[in-house]
Amino acid sequence: MKRVITYGTFDTFHWGHMELLRRAREMGDWLAVGLSTDEFNAIKGKKSHLPYSRRLEILQAIKYVDLVFPENNWGQKRDDILKYNIDTFVMGDDWRGRFDNLADVCNVVYLARTANISSTLIKHSLQK
Ligand code: CTP
Repeated sequence: MKRVITYGTFDTFHWGHMELLRRAREMGDWLAVGLSTDEFNAIKGKKSHLPYSRRLEILQAIKYVDLVFPENNWGQKRDDILKYNIDTFVMGDDWRGRFDNLADVCNVVYLARTANISSTLIKHSLQK
């Protein structure tokens, strides 16, 4: 069984997120998602529209996702990869190069982002 992992905030879930998860899941047989907690987002200077509990519920309802677990800090990825016996680490290409240091424990793949959609765009629309 090939195991894949990805990370993100997945706020105001949109089709760019869905495409990323679909393609990530296609790279293996099992997909885990590290979901940024509200506390970790605060550390990153981000505030999500939806709290962790809602973002978790949405991701758990997506058929491409097998496991969702909290991402609490920048440093946990290597431990998660070893813990879940991950073959492939996947992120959108806005993160290209940022996680190449994990290539000694698994494959590191950056997928093209879906154009013209983001949580930031939706949040701005909601504020109008
Ligand atoms: N993603 C994507 N295509 C988009 C938006 C996001 O492929 N149009 C991917 C990101 O590259 C990342 C994952 O989805 O691998 C989760 O991204 P996240 O940062 O939570 O979503 P964004 O919509 O990019 O949020 P923001 O606007 O806050 O950056």
